[in-house]
Amino acid sequence: MEQSFIMIKPDGVRRGLIAEILTRFQQKGFTLRGAKLMQMEQALAEQHYAEHKERPFFPDLVEFITSGPVFAMVWEGEGMIAEARRLIGSTDPAEAAPGTIRGDLAVKKSENVIHGSDSPESAEREINLFFQKHELIETGKNSVIS
Ligand code: PPS
Repeated sequence: MEQSFIMIKPDGVRRGLIAEILTRFQQKGFTLRGAKLMQMEQALAEQHYAEHKERPFFPDLVEFITSGPVFAMVWEGEGMIAEARRLIGSTDPAEAAPGTIRGDLAVKKSENVIHGSDSPESAEREINLFFQKHELIETGKNSVIS
């Protein structure tokens, strides 16, 4: 079983998409191990997106991701990281297939509703950045949504 860090961005929270997105992951058959609504500080935003710090859009990205609450989650399942990226769709919603979260619910690349880890290394780093051990339900125990 694999875990991924999934985060509904401020645009998704503002637009009331938390329940819709939870439903999509739940209906696919994944298990929720942790979740929280939180306001990211600038330092956490810069750490989370550190690999993009030389990109021209980095200041906009940090400003956007700290512009309101995010909904941070850890989901678990078979091939969770790649499967979550399939459910989420391409980074640019204009290129995301219909049926994916971004394909159905977003228009702009700068406000693309949701983040999902892109590798096992990122997933581990991001889960540890956002969650303490006691905030996650252990594998093998039923979570609230499964
Ligand atoms: S990818 O998939 O890593 O190749 O995508 P990339 O284009 O490199 O983008 C990396 C993350 O930055 C976000 N992004 C932006 N945010 C705000 N404003 C602008 N202009 C912008 N351009 C890209 C993009 O959604 C990726 O965020 P995550 O959270 O990883 O999806």
